[in-house]
Amino acid sequence: MNKTISFLVFTLSFLLSINTTAMAQNKKTNILVLIHSDNGGTYELAKNITEGIEKNSDANATIKLVKASDNVKLKDIPVANVDELSSYDGIAFGSPVYFGNISTAMSEFLSKTVDVWTKHELEGMPATVFMSAGSGAGKELALQSFWNSLAVHGMILVSNGIRGYENIEKNIPQGNSVLGTTSLASLKDVTRPSKSERYLAKLQGENFAKVSTALKGTFKQKSIETKSAYTVDINEVLKQKNIVLPELPKPVGNYELFSRSGNLVFINQVSLKDGKILYPGKVGIDVTEQQVEEATKVTMLNIIAILKEAVGGDLNKVKKCVQLIGVFNTPETYTQHAMLMNAASDLTVEIFGEKGKHTRNTSGAYSLPVGSSVSIQAIFEVE
Ligand SMILES: Cc1cc2nc3c(=O)[nH]c(=O)nc-3n(C[C@H](O)[C@H](O)[C@H](O)COP(=O)(O)O)c2cc1C
Repeated sequence: MNKTISFLVFTLSFLLSINTTAMAQNKKTNILVLIHSDNGGTYELAKNITEGIEKNSDANATIKLVKASDNVKLKDIPVANVDELSSYDGIAFGSPVYFGNISTAMSEFLSKTVDVWTKHELEGMPATVFMSAGSGAGKELALQSFWNSLAVHGMILVSNGIRGYENIEKNIPQGNSVLGTTSLASLKDVTRPSKSERYLAKLQGENFAKVSTALKGTFKQKSIETKSAYTVDINEVLKQKNIVLPELPKPVGNYELFSRSGNLVFINQVSLKDGKILYPGKVGIDVTEQQVEEATKVTMLNIIAILKEAVGGDLNKVKKCVQLIGVFNTPETYTQHAMLMNAASDLTVEIFGEKGKHTRNTSGAYSLPVGSSVSIQAIFEVE
């Protein structure tokens, strides 16, 4: 009895602490530091901008990329989606200077914000910009070209002015500019960003957090209304359709149930049900096509149960089913793989709607692990 009471007290205080943390996060000014970087120079400035933002105890900063990168310094940074932009209280944009302009990747990302623009989602949101240049040729043109796009969005552009100028080292060229901090990365007389460039970026972050905190809650009501009208709760869909997700299967080797890289989750499963393989064997010899279709559905349910675990229990965080690959244990001459795989594809679309639509590959194999008649590899994009 005593143990039960202490367990309940522990659970209650644990839940309360989660709730309090979530409420505190909500009250904070959430700033996105959205960058493109090829060699890491812009990322270095982004870290100083973040440091400045987080000097303000009311503000939080999250660095995200506009495009995934293979660079070791950048590959673990999550990639932003245009749909999430309106959920922040301010955005600090960072890009390399490309021919006196913003970089191609940043430009491509902004070109995907047409919907966000026509819905007025960023109107009134503060924005600030910073850039990594080479020699600095055309840096102010580039900063200004950044402003052009953000002005079209109706964002409030927060400039640096001559903030901090008195304190920078003036014996070497610096990337100071009234529109935003830059770094002169190809001038290698000192490590870049230089100490002064980092100092200016930090000041820019600090000032941006102050402005964003002051403006928090004064915009984006419109976008919240539009979104909630179309939001489908996936957890509710499961209930309504009576779809029960199985217990998580246990790995039967030295591997993880799922692997997350950036915003992608990778999962591989066979048709395990209650600890046993459902309908094992070869299609048309040991098992019928109908049985394999059922095994395929069970395999996909296992995948979705694991996916739920991967997103911390809330399937609404799934943005898209990117790809499914189905392999079936078939005789050499078998050709109906696509029909069998529809059991997995249909279930995915039934649960996730438009977000469940994916590309797909199917094939046959001579044998599959633990005798399963089907094996599926799935890739999902998540928040
Ligand atoms: C296509 C291209 C065009 C560039 N144009 C300029 C330029 O006009 N002015 C400049 O100062 N640097 C220019 N650079 C240099 C980059 O701005 C510089 O290397 C920057 O630090 C890269 O940032 P990152 O380290 O975040 O990738 C250019 C680089 C590329 C690849």
